[in-house]
Amino acid sequence: MSILLTGGLGYIGSHTAVELLEDGREIVIIDNLSNSNIEVKDKIEKIVTDKYAKNMKVVVGDVRDEKLLEQIFSENDITAVVHFAGLKAVGESVEKPLEYYDNNINSTTSLLKVMKKFGVKNFVFSSSATVYGRAKSMPIYEDFEIGATNPYGRTKLFIEQILQDIYVSDKTYNIAILRYFNPIGAHDSGLIGEDPNGIPNNLLPYVAKVATGKLEVLSVFGDDYDTKDGTGVRDYIHVVDLAKGHLSALKKLEENCGLKIYNLGTGVGYSVLDIVEAYNKVCGGKVKYKFAPRRPGDIDVCYANADKAFKEMGWKAERDLENMCMTSWKFENNK
Ligand code: NAD
Ligand code: UFG
Repeated sequence: MSILLTGGLGYIGSHTAVELLEDGREIVIIDNLSNSNIEVKDKIEKIVTDKYAKNMKVVVGDVRDEKLLEQIFSENDITAVVHFAGLKAVGESVEKPLEYYDNNINSTTSLLKVMKKFGVKNFVFSSSATVYGRAKSMPIYEDFEIGATNPYGRTKLFIEQILQDIYVSDKTYNIAILRYFNPIGAHDSGLIGEDPNGIPNNLLPYVAKVATGKLEVLSVFGDDYDTKDGTGVRDYIHVVDLAKGHLSALKKLEENCGLKIYNLGTGVGYSVLDIVEAYNKVCGGKVKYKFAPRRPGDIDVCYANADKAFKEMGWKAERDLENMCMTSWKFENNK
């Protein structure tokens, strides 16, 4: 019995691969390396040691390639799929909407078609807090209205809708839609973490590069938001906590739970300046910053209510901001 992880060599996928292997599961990863590196395979093997490494197969290829998917499903006893593969940069999605619709939507429909052919009905999907758009109040609950403000967010909305329609058509599916808040941090080993190509768009990878001197100064986008210090507030969650959330979701699917939607966040909001302060504590004060205009499309505050995931799956985030910054710093120095 194997679990298929699409995009399993990426940031969240690789941490989830470690958690599943250490839980004794067999996994097959498919990744086209568009935003990852084959060396991540060796690093996962090193973390989990030989005892579990033998339970992982890696296929380099595209999830839109249905022939390849059919080969994977016929050669392995796949019982569930965790679908991470996708493009995820909001700004890029505005410039290249077709690439986002093609990659994110078509990879999902190809996968679902092949799953149907092989009778596999357990599916975990990487959705995002971005589907809440500008929520009317905080914290955000799963039953809040959803809507998107950019092509990336719309791909997540459409896929959520496709999954709802599939479930309506066949109630024997078990589907977990996981809405991630802001994953940061790295594995304790310092071997895997977030390593974007070029200049990072997201806060933590940018902060880490300023701390190592690879970038000069962090621009803090906006100092006049309606928050305690005027800078944007987000629900940062340790990527290892998030990875464990996938194991909990897979266990939930094994109970034949039907379609479920869960926020995966900590329930706590931190400002950009809180992050700079916490990072400076672990790196020795190397993060210089300056204030810059607001980034178009940004919201002031976003944090989850994650009680449903705890009540129904027994999952909650355990790690604090210091650990998120410490592991990120360790990974950054290990690269
Ligand atoms: P990532 O880019 O590190 O990982 C995605 C992986 O998928 C990469 O290894 C990439 O090479 C692969 N991939 C992309 N398209 C593919 C395709 N067509 N076929 C095969 N492989 C393909 O991103 P991540 O941060 O690990 O995010 C994983 C998922 O979680 C994505 O769907 C993303 O939209 C979602 N998500 C991420 C965040 C975040 O802040 N990181 C927040 C919310 C949701
Ligand atoms: N920020 C800066 N300077 C930077 C980068 C970010 O001040 O150089 C600020 C932003 O303005 C925001 C906060 O840091 O207030 C977090 O920004 P990120 O870009 O790290 O994250 P976002 O909340 O904007 O978005 C991320 C992903 C989305 C996802 C969302 C929720 O990029 O795809 O989290 O999961 F939808």
